[in-house]
Parts: sequence; structure tokens; C-alpha cells
Amino acid sequence: MGVQEKKERLHSFYRDLYFRLLRSIRTVALYGEDHAESKRRVKEFLVPLSRYLVQRPALTILFMHGEVVIENMPITELTDSHIKVVRRMEEMKLQRLQFRRGITTKELTFFLKLMAPLLKNPANGDLVLAKNQHRFPHLLAGALPYGDTAQISPEEIPGGVESMRQAVLSLSGSLKDIFNGLDGPLSASKVSLAKEATERLEGMIERDELPLKMILYRRSSDPDPYIHAINVSALCMALSRQLDLEESIIEEMSLGGLLHDIGMHLTPTISLSNSQALSLEERKRRWEHPVRGAEILLATPGMPDLPPIMAYEHHLHYDGGGYPRRVKGRDLTLAGMIACVADTYDNLRRNRPTQKALPMTRVLDWMDSQIGKRFHPIVLKRFRSMVKDLSKGEGEINNL
Ligand SMILES: [Fe+2]
Ligand SMILES: [Fe+2]
Repeated sequence: MGVQEKKERLHSFYRDLYFRLLRSIRTVALYGEDHAESKRRVKEFLVPLSRYLVQRPALTILFMHGEVVIENMPITELTDSHIKVVRRMEEMKLQRLQFRRGITTKELTFFLKLMAPLLKNPANGDLVLAKNQHRFPHLLAGALPYGDTAQISPEEIPGGVESMRQAVLSLSGSLKDIFNGLDGPLSASKVSLAKEATERLEGMIERDELPLKMILYRRSSDPDPYIHAINVSALCMALSRQLDLEESIIEEMSLGGLLHDIGMHLTPTISLSNSQALSLEERKRRWEHPVRGAEILLATPGMPDLPPIMAYEHHLHYDGGGYPRRVKGRDLTLAGMIACVADTYDNLRRNRPTQKALPMTRVLDWMDSQIGKRFHPIVLKRFRSMVKDLSKGEGEINNL
């Protein structure tokens, strides 16, 4: 089955499931929960949902701006009557509905019974749902935790972090397919996987499933090996936008951010058994990864211009330092300097074998001290103003 066909099948599964959910709410409203018809409708929804939850830990439905998005896939073909329902959901501040593995008929029926009158009169719906949340532990219903008004630290909202984690997990699955067993230029299918991953990442940031604010503010101890690629891609994209670059350039920047360390993922040509030799090999790989990465990307058909440049230049400094050693008289590109800022920031903000993640203020202070040295003054200034804009009203979480 082709990728497109799989996508279409999944889309029609989500759409069908969504309609089954609405039908079950309406039937429970009409006949009451004990009626045979209600039981039949509830089962019609729960059976395919449970089958889905065998494979994935949760299914998330988002209601935003008059749109229904299931597992990152917008369900566009809604009829008028459904749009009214979406509006009601929004009125009761129900932006996210998440069904988790382990959900029972009893929990679901209780939730549907609660929803039925709320769809007619949504006033205080959020309070009613919150008060009864303990009655349906495998179902999360409420506002998304990252609204503009969120006052508490995102780390204190397990649901929010969990949904972010899921967003990252789904992306990192595709990155694994790209980087695993890498021994030369990328195939056409890997290139399209990478482009698709950056588009998905952009969508997740736009929909606030993976807010940029969180990428910047959350000190990362995530062991996921691809989280750095995801973060650098997101930061390159945002910083390019901040610098008013063209949309087509922004796309390339985002792809370059995702692939900047691709040289690190090359399969080693020799296998060494003793640990000292291994660390030597590791060091060699580190020094060589910008060149190796640029080589792979340059030799990859269909690869745009910027990613190889970003792979080559992301460890080079504005004042001529860094590595690989610079050929005299050669200027750095804006793309390389953006990648350097994004890469350095993320490296300092996550736990690595050699160094623990640093608090945000320390990282920013140090980066300020490197203005005109390691970093291009304008690029760094724009990065700082982006951080400042995002931090409005978030003084509490500076030291995450
Ligand atoms: Fe690197
Ligand atoms: Fe990096």
C-alpha cells in the first residue's frame, strides 16, 4: 500500500470514528444511556476505537477555529450540522478530547451522558467536565494547556507534556527511518520523508501541539536521539521567519535544521571493541560530521541548496573560529549562522553525556557574551527578540 493510500485510509477511519462519536452522543441524549439503541451506538464507536488503541496509546481529537483535527489530520469534510457541534465544543472550551488505552464502556457512557445536555447548553461546560474528570480516567476533556493565558509552568501539566511528547514521538519515528543504516546519499523516499517531517513539524507548531515556546523553554532531558534534529529544525524555521526570509527559503532552512547533523548518523566503517578506541572514533566522527554531512547532502538528488551549507557551516563561528577549518577569505552564509545559533542554543539546553542542560538565563547570558564572536550580531539579536516575544507573561518558567 502506498503512503498516500495509507493516509487516505487513516483519514476515512478518523472521520468515520468522529461521526460515530457524535451519533453516540445524540442517541444517548435522545433515549438515555440504558436504551438498547444507545448501547448499540456506544459500541459502534468503542469497538473501532479500542482496536486503534491496541496499536497507539491514545487518540486525540482537537476542536480549534471551527475545525476538527484528529491525530494531526484535519477532518475537512464536515457538514453544517457538525460545524455547529464544533462551535459548541469551543464554547464550552473543549479544545482537546483524548481517548486513552484502557477506556471502558462505563467511562465512555458516563462522559457521553455528560456531553449530551452540554451540546445544547454549553455554559460552564468546562467546569462540569473538569469536576467529573475522575469518573473517566482514560478520557481527557478540556482546554489545551498552552493557551495565552496559561499561568502555570508547563512542566506541571502532565497532559500537556504528554501530548507534546506524543507529537515528538510521531516525528522521531520518521527521522529514525531517515537516519538508520545511513551509508551514503539519501534515497528519493528518504528525502520526501524528511520534507514531510518538516511540514508536519510546522503544522504541529502552528496548532500549538508542539509550541515553539516549549521548545525554547523546556530544558530537555529527553533521551530521544532525534529530539535535537527536531528542535534545531523548529528553531531554524522560526528564526528565519523572524528575519523575514522568503517562505521557500524558510522551508529549506527547516529541512537544513533537521538534517544538519546527518554526518553524525553515518554508519561507522570500522567497528572497534575497546572503549578508548571507541571514544577516539566518536571524537573523529564529531570533528568530521560537518564535512561528511555536507558531502551526503550534496550528493543527494533533489536536495535543495541550503541543507548542505547548513551541515557544513553550523559549527563555524562569525569571527572565524569553530570547525571545519575555514578556507581563508570565505564568508559564512546567513543560513549557516542561523543554524549555528539554533544548534548552540539547543545543545546547551539539553542533557548530553559531557554536560548537563543549563538554565535558560545562563544560556542566553552566555550567548549574549558571544555576540560578534561566535554569533552574527543581527542573527543573535533577532533570536533574542524572538525569545523575549515568546516569554511575555512567562517569567515563572525562566529556570526550567
Ligand atoms: Fe553538529
Ligand atoms: Fe547539532
